[in-house]
Amino acid sequence: MHFRDFIILFFYVCHCLYSCAAQSYVLDDKYGLGRTFDGIGGLSGGGATSRLLVNYPEPYRSQILDYLFKPNFGASLHILKVEIGGDAQTTDGTESSHMHYKDDENYFRGYEWWLMKEAKKRNPNITLIGLPWAFPGWVGSGKNWPYDFPDITAYYVVSWIIGAKQYHDLDINYVGIWNERKFDTKYIKLLRYTLDKSGLKGVKIIASDNLWEPITMCMLIDQELHDAIDVIGAHYPGTLTVSEALMSDKQLWSSEDYSTFNDDVGGGCWARILNQNYVNGRMTATISWNLIASYYEELPFGRDGLMTAEEPWSGNYVVESPIWITAHTTQFTQPGWTYLQTVGHLLNGGSYVALTDGLGNLTIVIETMTHDHSVCIRPPLPAFNVSAQNATFNLKGSFSSLEMLQVWYSRFDFKTNKSKFFQKLEPIKLSRGSFTLNLNVDEVYTLTTLKTGNKGTYPKPPDSAPFPKQYKDNFNVRNPAFTEAPDFADQTGVFEYFINMTDPGDHVFTLRQVVTQRPVTWATDADQTISIIGDHAWQNISLTCDIYIETPETGGVFVGGRVNKGGGSVRDAKGIFFWVFADGTYRVTNDISGNIVMAKGLSGTRAGVWHTLTLNIEGDFASGLLNGYPLWKNATILGPSNGWAAIGTSTFEFAQFDNFYVNAN
Ligand SMILES: *[C@@H]1O[C@H](CO)[C@@H](O)[C@H](O)[C@H]1NC(C)=O
Ligand SMILES: *[C@@H]1O[C@H](CO)[C@@H](O)[C@H](O)[C@H]1NC(C)=O
Ligand SMILES: *[C@@H]1O[C@H](CO)[C@@H](O)[C@H](O)[C@H]1NC(C)=O
Ligand SMILES: *[C@@H]1O[C@H](CO)[C@@H](O)[C@H](O)[C@H]1NC(C)=O
Ligand SMILES: *[C@@H]1O[C@H](CO)[C@@H](O)[C@H](O)[C@H]1NC(C)=O
Ligand SMILES: *[C@@H]1O[C@H](CO)[C@@H](O)[C@H](O)[C@H]1NC(C)=O
Ligand SMILES: *[C@@H]1O[C@H](CO)[C@@H](O)[C@H](O)[C@H]1NC(C)=O
Ligand SMILES: *[C@@H]1O[C@H](CO)[C@@H](O)[C@H](O)[C@H]1NC(C)=O
Repeated sequence: MHFRDFIILFFYVCHCLYSCAAQSYVLDDKYGLGRTFDGIGGLSGGGATSRLLVNYPEPYRSQILDYLFKPNFGASLHILKVEIGGDAQTTDGTESSHMHYKDDENYFRGYEWWLMKEAKKRNPNITLIGLPWAFPGWVGSGKNWPYDFPDITAYYVVSWIIGAKQYHDLDINYVGIWNERKFDTKYIKLLRYTLDKSGLKGVKIIASDNLWEPITMCMLIDQELHDAIDVIGAHYPGTLTVSEALMSDKQLWSSEDYSTFNDDVGGGCWARILNQNYVNGRMTATISWNLIASYYEELPFGRDGLMTAEEPWSGNYVVESPIWITAHTTQFTQPGWTYLQTVGHLLNGGSYVALTDGLGNLTIVIETMTHDHSVCIRPPLPAFNVSAQNATFNLKGSFSSLEMLQVWYSRFDFKTNKSKFFQKLEPIKLSRGSFTLNLNVDEVYTLTTLKTGNKGTYPKPPDSAPFPKQYKDNFNVRNPAFTEAPDFADQTGVFEYFINMTDPGDHVFTLRQVVTQRPVTWATDADQTISIIGDHAWQNISLTCDIYIETPETGGVFVGGRVNKGGGSVRDAKGIFFWVFADGTYRVTNDISGNIVMAKGLSGTRAGVWHTLTLNIEGDFASGLLNGYPLWKNATILGPSNGWAAIGTSTFEFAQFDNFYVNAN
């Protein structure tokens, strides 16, 4: 904080003490303005959080995208941050890399390219950010560490930025280091150098997407590092920052925040975060993890998104309260606007911020959230007591002559469940630059000179429905925009569409596991690969799938049911796993790591030949068929009682799958 800010703060605290009975607040630009606002955004990835969105049928998919990105419609986001896929598990799944192998480059994998283009189509001004969580194994030369060869890591990241422009005409505005992991100052400087050398001087660097320290201290003592970094980005700051960060001349961002279940309580958390990240911590951008809850809800952090779209099979989606809370700020500001210095807490709890475009427009956002912070974010903030209050705002400086403000209003009602969101109220007439609000608890107000606000709507989407009990995919019908088969959610490894033009028969179009080396991981990936699909509540299933082991002698493939865990817990997944191996054996295990053996024996399976596996699970027993003939039967299941269907491999190895069919009737 500058000395001048102290004086002003002191002035308003005193002012407040003298006039507490009146509870009045001054909004003034007389002494200059505060920091430049950089926007509010959502994060797709870290990981696979948008996985199911891409499989929504139209018109629902476009409607969902409108609620997220379309200006003056819904959340009207200013920022889209995406994961730079690294082939590894990054919370709710893996995201595909643009370079699986050393000599490999492909900028059409996964769905983040598509998502960025859809966002840009709706808001050409949207700010784009890329950040790696994990890296393909070759980037670390086999070690779980990307900095031993920083030139390779910088080349890998900069290639992604160049590919975004070359193949998708996307300008990436910011790039990060390594999500929530250690940084290496040598690497950051080299990344800056590599960007500059590649004609990407305009791409700014965020560091370090972790805590405020030690990055801030390192920047203070290392001028070259300080010059290389444009934004200090902290995660889950709890609205607070550190004094060294305030003293630096860098923008401060909450580059990942929220991570709360998106019911109304979550919406309330988000309202408080959006205001108080600036009021308490002078952060000028806040990014929600995650953008949209589009992953199986039983994976970790189910529904921690601004809205929910987790049923592509039904088309059902839910525009949750955080969308409208976001709109309270995003629809009435733009990156490049400036906060007033006169922001703060309300005397009976809650907070207010004010921003201006410098052309006379003013937007004020007020929140009076009550509920317990412990449900909101980590670490929890100190709790405040909030009660009803009358607040008078006095507009001074260039705003003193404003006569009218538009009013947008939300009210959380946790008791009667009759919350109201983003309602347009009658404009307020100002009398000599002053107005008074009768504030209740758990309210959000926007008061603004802008008349552009709009609560977008679409007809009610289809009703929610469980995953279909019968599901088949022969991987022949493909949406060429995507490399993944619908609804398969990779938890270790990457499963891609594959074409084998020389296949003589029915297996030209298959699904192939393509990660052949353990990645530089971010979470604890399994030593096996696995992709899940279906309904976590499934108990009794019959699953048939053609499989093709590609690795002679050591290769192995499985089909599974009742798989109970994914995400960062994928190593601990239990279920019924039916494996066949290139060495002519089979095994049935109760866990993905293959330690709890339920049955085993000879199968005659080998690499380079298609086999058909069938797994039947009913009640406490399971049986398996190979090429239509019983191979093992009546294996006793001790647990789990339910879970997803799955396919996978016994190591990081190539293998193919075809004619997948699951029946859960
Ligand atoms: C994009 O930004 C420009 C310049 O600030 C502005 O004139 C234009 O209205 C913006 N477009 C949208 C869709 O917000
Ligand atoms: C406010 O913003 C609008 C729309 O961007 C612009 O036309 C107007 O000049 C700005 N200033 C005032 C005082 O309304
Ligand atoms: C909140 O109010 C309650 C009851 O009035 C009081 O016991 C508590 O100390 C207050 N907490 C804070 C943080 O002011
Ligand atoms: C706010 O002011 C109104 C009169 O305008 C009064 O009836 C009400 O009690 C006040 N509320 C509070 C919390 O002071
Ligand atoms: C509030 O409404 C939602 C959706 O209609 C419902 O799921 C939830 O159980 C309700 N909560 C209470 C406390 O009634
Ligand atoms: C493609 O099919 C041919 C002919 O069956 C086979 O020899 C080859 O191994 C297949 N390639 C892959 C990668 O599956
Ligand atoms: C699964 O099968 C068992 C044994 O037949 C039966 O008791 C159980 O109800 C079935 N579960 C479901 C969800 O149908
Ligand atoms: C399966 O095994 C159980 C005991 O483990 C036995 O009671 C049951 O009869 C067997 N069922 C079949 C079909 O063999």
